[in-house]
Amino acid sequence: MRHSRIGARTYVGFALLSVALVSVCETSFAAPGATAPALATAAPAAPAAAKGVSEKDMADALHAVIAADRFVYTKLVVNRLSEEEKVIKASEHWEDDKALPLPAQMLRAASDRLEGSGAKFTYALTSLFPINKKNTPASPAEKKGLEVVAANPAQNYYGEDLLGTQKYFLAVYPDVASSEACASCHNNHPDSPRKDWKLNDVMGAVVVRIPVQ
Ligand code: HEC
Repeated sequence: MRHSRIGARTYVGFALLSVALVSVCETSFAAPGATAPALATAAPAAPAAAKGVSEKDMADALHAVIAADRFVYTKLVVNRLSEEEKVIKASEHWEDDKALPLPAQMLRAASDRLEGSGAKFTYALTSLFPINKKNTPASPAEKKGLEVVAANPAQNYYGEDLLGTQKYFLAVYPDVASSEACASCHNNHPDSPRKDWKLNDVMGAVVVRIPVQ
């Protein structure tokens, strides 16, 4: 499919802003008598940025940040404090239990927050067999994407989607049971419609939607 270019003007704007900021910083921190190479070194960034960023590249970049945040929260906060240091538990009922939210809940809270902020793109962690019904695919195209990545765990799925009258670029990134804990917690959860998850299964996907004209 076609990956049209978006936001070229915005990115040029950012590039020019960064050039300006770099030159401000270099000016304020430059040693007396030093020449200021900021504009000369930063200028080549502008032509590259002028090409714009494809929806696929934007979705891939967003997914990389979402995945990095989830990994770091799981490792440095949840696993360290609940399993290694045993300072505080992680619990689905984190408010009542005064505990840490689960990583999937953190992700949903942040994506809800993003939607409320007026951002045009959205993301979610969804599944064909969700514990929380809110994590059900939002469209037939998303469901198809989840089916494709479940059958091909090494691949992402890219396509188009329509919600109401808005067209989207749709990107679906497989979410794999990377530890036994993923499978066992879901298998033992009373609301889980599936009880036979195992290590390395694709349990769902991170879904990114970027509006297109
Ligand atoms: C301690 C229990 C627990 C562990 C461990 C756990 N999950 Fe979950 N997971 C949940 C709960 C509860 C939800 C529903 C969160 C919500 O309310 O949105 C969830 C949500 C999800 C969803 C969204 C669909 C759904 O089921 O609602 C996916 C996909 C998912 N988890 C994958 C994983 C993967 C992959 C791992 C391991 C890296 C993992 N989970 C580890 C409990 C767990």
